[in-house]
Amino acid sequence: MAKAKLTFSDIDTTVTVPVGVRVIEISEKIGSNIVYGCREGDCGTCLMKVEKGWENLSTPSIVEDKILRENAAGKHHRLACQAQVLGDITVSLA
Ligand code: FES
Repeated sequence: MAKAKLTFSDIDTTVTVPVGVRVIEISEKIGSNIVYGCREGDCGTCLMKVEKGWENLSTPSIVEDKILRENAAGKHHRLACQAQVLGDITVSLA
């Protein structure tokens, strides 16, 4: 199975994860401070900043895209409960 490096800069921690995993599946396990609400791409609570490797995340779904627009999110902001890791990335709190 392909692997990628996912770095949470808020806790200065890098983990090796299977490609395709969502950020939410890892961040709570290792104690990142990204906060979640609905966990379904509906509330925007889990907005995170992608510092490096933003091209290594899945394309936002229609649902995620709508929430990003409603939150006036920047180009490098994504929802941690929706974004799937496809390659090495570094994320931080929004
Ligand atoms: S937790 Fe609600 S959009 Fe991610």
